[in-house]
Amino acid sequence: MKSRLDWTKAKLNRIEDIATDVREFTFDTEAVLGRFQPGSHINIKVETAHGPALRTYTCVHNGPRQLTIAVKRHENSRGGSAFMWQLQPEVAVEISLPENRFELSWGAPSYLLIAGGIGITPVAGMAKALAARGAEVRMVYAARSAQHFAYGDELKSVLGDRLQQFASDAGQRVDFAREIAALPEGGEAYACGPIRMLNDLKAAWAEAGRHFSRLRFEVFGDSGTFAERDFEVEILNRSGRIKVRPDETLLDALRAADVPMIYDCQRGECGLCAVGVLEHSGAIDHRDVFFSEGEKASGERMCACVSRFDGGLARIDTGYRL
Ligand code: FES
Repeated sequence: MKSRLDWTKAKLNRIEDIATDVREFTFDTEAVLGRFQPGSHINIKVETAHGPALRTYTCVHNGPRQLTIAVKRHENSRGGSAFMWQLQPEVAVEISLPENRFELSWGAPSYLLIAGGIGITPVAGMAKALAARGAEVRMVYAARSAQHFAYGDELKSVLGDRLQQFASDAGQRVDFAREIAALPEGGEAYACGPIRMLNDLKAAWAEAGRHFSRLRFEVFGDSGTFAERDFEVEILNRSGRIKVRPDETLLDALRAADVPMIYDCQRGECGLCAVGVLEHSGAIDHRDVFFSEGEKASGERMCACVSRFDGGLARIDTGYRL
């Protein structure tokens, strides 16, 4: 069961490579879109080797009838980035209308923006919008190398020395404790990046005694502690085993096997897809931002849409509901 989305037909108007492994796609949409909101996202219907699927991408910008997203090419693509990267101009696709679950509040006295890799897509729009309003804003942006900074030049021209870039191949790392200390009390932080970066940020935020209501973040659904591997699951009160391939999620595999599931965001945010974990031989790779660190450490539940097991066999209870 999935919450209802409103869809529009769209035609691919323009493709541009904007950084190593990052390609921007601009679509002309049939439907009239609302005003652009930084942090908003769309779903797109894609074809994978295993059939049709939905993938979610952040809107980098939209006009009344035009919408731009940026997509990273993934080595272990579950089919979404592989599908997107083979698209050619004029092709017709179906996309859902933008919705926003990573909203920027406009009333904070100051802002710290944090982006890691393709996590720049929601954060860049926030930086430009805040700078245009004259807000007090600083940004730290980490990427694998100088060639991986999508929108780096544009942001530099908007933010000047309020932007700091960190290239990991040059040994540069963000010092979250220092960045948080430089954020005036009452300031808000917005972050998007891989889960390990966000875990470090959350730990530093807690250590600094900052209130969690002032830290907002979004994670890549596909960034985890372990590389994707096959694993198998058995389900309480159901016979047989279900195999989960490296290129599919546990939720996808359960649905393909006709296991009734409730889900919504498919980004590890809402918790609707949570299942109980009864036994497991491979470690749980929690990739959601829904459960607390304590809940993750207990190993009792996991979000089937993003989290997975590091190989082996697990027994789960899909009857578990929040
Ligand atoms: S569907 Fe929202 S966390 Fe899985």
